[in-house]
Order: sequence, then structure tokens, then C-alpha cells
Amino acid sequence: MKFLLLFILLGSFYTSAESYIANIKCKECHETIYEEYRRSMHAKSYFSDELHRKVADSVDTKRYACATCHMPSANNIEALITGKERPDKRNTTHTDGVSCYFCHTIAYVKKSHRFNLNVKAKQAENYKPTFFGRLERPDESDKHSSLSNPIYAKQVCTGCHSHKRNEHNITVFHAMKEGQESLSCIECHMPKVPGGVEKMDKRVRGEHASHEFPGIHDKAFRMKGVDIDLAVEKNRLKVTLTNKMPHPLIIQPARAKFLKIEVVRKGKIVWKNFETSPSEDRQGYFAYRFERNGKEVVIPATATQSYVHNLDADETKVLSYDIPKLQKGDTIRVGLYVRLAKEDCAKVVKLDDKHLTKPELIKQKILKWR
Ligand code: HEC
Ligand code: HEC
Ligand code: HEC
Ligand code: HEC
Ligand code: HEC
Repeated sequence: MKFLLLFILLGSFYTSAESYIANIKCKECHETIYEEYRRSMHAKSYFSDELHRKVADSVDTKRYACATCHMPSANNIEALITGKERPDKRNTTHTDGVSCYFCHTIAYVKKSHRFNLNVKAKQAENYKPTFFGRLERPDESDKHSSLSNPIYAKQVCTGCHSHKRNEHNITVFHAMKEGQESLSCIECHMPKVPGGVEKMDKRVRGEHASHEFPGIHDKAFRMKGVDIDLAVEKNRLKVTLTNKMPHPLIIQPARAKFLKIEVVRKGKIVWKNFETSPSEDRQGYFAYRFERNGKEVVIPATATQSYVHNLDADETKVLSYDIPKLQKGDTIRVGLYVRLAKEDCAKVVKLDDKHLTKPELIKQKILKWR
């Protein structure tokens, strides 16, 4: 710890501009990690994430304040936030998204009301950069030094993922409780996978933390978040949802997660929980909703009120539906779905990628009545 402190002080002593190292440079030695990372959401940027870009442009076409978390390596971040400059496709510090260099030079995270702040360790000029991580006794390389830093278990994800409030002090998303550590985030979202930490695997570690950061976009991974249980009592269907994640089901205002319930008799649907839009079913539709001075708005940036129907961290909810009397041979189908861009969001920003607007199945439970 003493060494770390000295390092940070040393860093700030030097006033030179920070020299950024691009993601692609890490590939030379960390090829597997690099390839995983390339498929991850962190590798996406303003240019490659259509949903993010279109929402950002509908918030403000001049200022790109989202850069704090979405383009944190930008060498002109102040100019982007204040609107003096715009994102530039030819600038690697812009296209690299949440970069390798950024995550591995976070020295600590400062708690803050609107959103937390990542405090970077400044790198001393003419020295190899130092990257923080969680390996015990990491090996040296000619490109960089490595240092084990306790924030790599405690705080590293909380700088961007904890919470966000808009300029009117309205919650845009809230994923983590005060003081919640990030080690659990790492254990689920960076599972250990085979393959050395670096290409040569000189230390014969044999495995590394996956940098694919699986989440809601990963079909196999997303099945693990919520358990669905079904029970029928007389003409009532009880759907028990258990959130096994240490964060709420909804932590992104663009998303909707919802239930589609159908009672099927001889191949025909005889009952369902909504007619046209899943939001008709108040208990089974999970999403944020925003208002500005009493009127509904879709983009949260200017909202003065926010509401959310959610399934909290580790919470169990029992939803109850009146259904027709079941007959032998009937089937009840209950699916939990996600729309990456919920219906009203897709109405205000035009999206080309169908994958963003088409409901996708997270998990399904089927009950056959005998
Ligand atoms: C405090 C950090 C922070 C700031 C500031 C921030 N975001 Fe995000 N944003 C995140 C995180 C973390 C995620 C990933 C969360 C998730 O997927 O649930 C995300 C994801 C998103 C997504 C979903 C992207 C997708 O493809 O699924 C959109 C859209 C988005 N942000 C828009 C914005 C816009 C627009 C701004 C600026 C007005 C902004 N964000 C500012 C942290 C932030
Ligand atoms: C010339 C080869 C080389 C290059 C290029 C390289 N590294 Fe490394 N890196 C290593 C070696 C060797 C280790 C030690 C592995 C071990 O101990 O098993 C390492 C370890 C690490 C660690 C682990 C530190 C810890 O304590 O957990 C991180 C983080 C890291 N590198 C990040 C990066 C990033 C980010 C880049 C690109 C900006 C990069 N490396 C480029 C060779 C390299
Ligand atoms: C027990 C495993 C587990 C832990 C621990 C965990 N998550 Fe998740 N997380 C999941 C699963 C499974 C999903 C995908 C299912 C879903 O979103 O409904 C997910 C989804 C997400 C998403 C995408 C949600 C969306 O709708 O876009 C983000 C962002 C996220 N987690 C961040 C975190 C952070 C930050 C932490 C640490 C506080 C964390 N997770 C801890 C299992 C976990
Ligand atoms: C979102 C933040 C984040 C980004 C982006 C990121 N890493 Fe990491 N990285 C971590 C965390 C957290 C760990 C520690 C995981 C653990 O030890 O369980 C880690 C661990 C490592 C390690 C040590 C391997 C291990 O098993 O602990 C290396 C090497 C590494 N990262 C290199 C990279 C490279 C190269 C990139 C870009 C291609 C990259 N990282 C991008 C957060 C990040
Ligand atoms: C510098 C800010 C930053 C840090 C630090 C950070 N993230 Fe993220 N994360 C983001 C942003 C921004 C996105 C969304 C990118 C997009 O959609 O364009 C994201 C997306 C994700 C997703 C994908 C969510 C989905 O859509 O399924 C997961 C999982 C995730 N982060 C986990 C983590 C974990 C675990 C850590 C800590 C090791 C971490 N992140 C650290 C900013 C960050």
C-alpha cells in the first residue's frame, strides 16, 4: 500500500500528458484476453454501439458528456464533455471504448452523488507504465510493470456501474448499494477460463479471468439471473420470480424485461397476460419510466421524476394471475424476455439493428396439466 501511494504521488509530480497505449498493443502478449475483450460490450464505442450513439445524439448533438464512462480514455475528454470537440473516428482513444489501459490504471474510485469518479494513476514520463491487477506476484515484462492493487477486488467496477443521476438529481440507473464491493461482479462476469494470462504462459498459471464480460447479450449466461417457478391453485397461476443477482433486474433505462404467459389448449392460445404490448401487464413488465413536469419522457436526461418496477437484488416476488379453469392436456408457457431497446425508446430513436428491438427469450418454464 505504501508503495502504491508513493507511486500515485510520483505520478502527479510529473505534469506531462499521459501517454495512452492502445488495446491492439496488448494483443502482442495477451492475445486470448484481447480476443475475448474484442467481443465484449466494453470494446464498443460511440461509433460501434448504435443504441448508445443514437440515444446520446438525441440527448445532445454538441456535448458528449457520456464520455466519462463510455469513452473514458479520450485524450480530449474535457473538450468532448463541454462540446468544444466531437467524437472522432480516426482517434484511437475514442474508438477503443472502455479500454484495457483505462481499467488497468484506475488507482481508486471516488464516491460521488451523481455518479462515482475513476481516479487514474498518472504514469511517470520515460518509465514503463504500471498496470494494476489482482495477480499474486505478477511477472515483469519489457512493456510494463504490474502491481497488485486491492481496489481490483473492492472498487474497480463501481466507478461506472454503481449509479447515475441526471442534472435534476433524478436516478437514471442504480445497480449497486452504498459500499457494495466489486469482487462478486468479477466472479460472475469474469469467470475463470483456460489459457495463460499471457501468450507464453511463462508462469504456467493455466487460466485467466475472461474478458468477454458476458451479460444480457449472452444467451447462455443470461439464463442464470432469475429463477422461475410455477404453481396453480384453482383458477390462479402463481409465478415466483427469484433474482439471484446482487443487482436489480433492471439497471439500464433503455431495457425492458417482461413475462409472456400463455395457456395453450389443443394447439390454441386460450389465455395470455397481454394483448399487444407487454407493458399492459403491470406486474410482469419491468422497466424504468420517466416524466418531466408530469409528462412522460423517454430519454432520462431531462427527466424530473423517475419510477421503476423492478426485482431487487436477491428479491423474490410472487405474481398472481386469474386464468381459465385448466383441462387435462393444457400447457402453460411462461417466458422471461428482454428488449434491449424498449418499445417507447425505439419510437424516439430510429434503430436499424433488429436485434435491439425484437424481444429475445431469457428463460422459459413450461407446465403441463395432467
Ligand atoms: C456513470 C457512468 C455512465 C455515464 C456517465 C453514462 N453511461 Fe451509459 N452506460 C453505463 C454503463 C455502466 C452501461 C452498461 C449497463 C448495462 O448494460 O446495464 C451503460 C450502457 C448504456 C446504454 C446501453 C447500451 C447497449 O448497447 O446496450 C445506453 C443506450 C447508454 N448507456 C446511454 C448513455 C448516454 C446517452 C449517456 C450520456 C448522456 C450515458 N449513457 C452516460 C454507464 C454510464
Ligand atoms: C511484451 C509483452 C506484454 C505486453 C505488450 C503487454 N503485457 Fe501485460 N503482462 C505481460 C506479462 C509477461 C505479464 C505477467 C503475467 C504473469 O505474471 O503471469 C503481464 C501482466 C499483466 C497484467 C496483470 C497484472 C496483475 O497484477 O494482475 C495486466 C493487468 C496487464 N498485463 C495488462 C496489460 C495491458 C493493458 C497491456 C496493453 C496496454 C499489456 N498488458 C501489454 C506482458 C505484456
Ligand atoms: C451471481 C452472478 C452475478 C453477480 C455476482 C453479478 N451479476 Fe451482473 N448479471 C448476472 C447475470 C446472469 C446477468 C444477465 C441476466 C439479466 O440481466 O437479467 C447480469 C447482467 C448484468 C448487466 C447487464 C444488465 C442489462 O440489462 O443490461 C450488468 C451491467 C451487470 N450485470 C453488472 C454487474 C455488476 C456491476 C456487478 C457487481 C455489483 C454484477 N453484475 C454482479 C449475474 C451476476
Ligand atoms: C472493465 C475493466 C477491464 C478492462 C476493459 C480490461 N480488464 Fe483486464 N482485468 C480486469 C480485472 C477486474 C481483472 C482481475 C480479474 C481477476 O483477477 O479475477 C483483470 C485481469 C487482467 C489480467 C490478469 C489475468 C487474470 O487472470 O487476472 C490481464 C493480463 C489483463 N487483465 C489484461 C487486459 C487486457 C490486455 C485488456 C484489453 C484487451 C483488458 N485487460 C481489459 C479488468 C479489465
Ligand atoms: C470506465 C467505465 C467502466 C468500468 C470501470 C467498468 N465498466 Fe462495465 N461497462 C461500461 C459501459 C459504458 C458499458 C456499456 C458499453 C456499451 O454498451 O457501449 C459496460 C458494459 C458492461 C457489461 C455488459 C452489460 C450487457 O450489456 O450485458 C458488463 C457485464 C460489465 N460492463 C461488467 C463490468 C465489470 C464486471 C466491471 C469491473 C471489473 C466493469 N464492467 C467496469 C463501463 C465500465
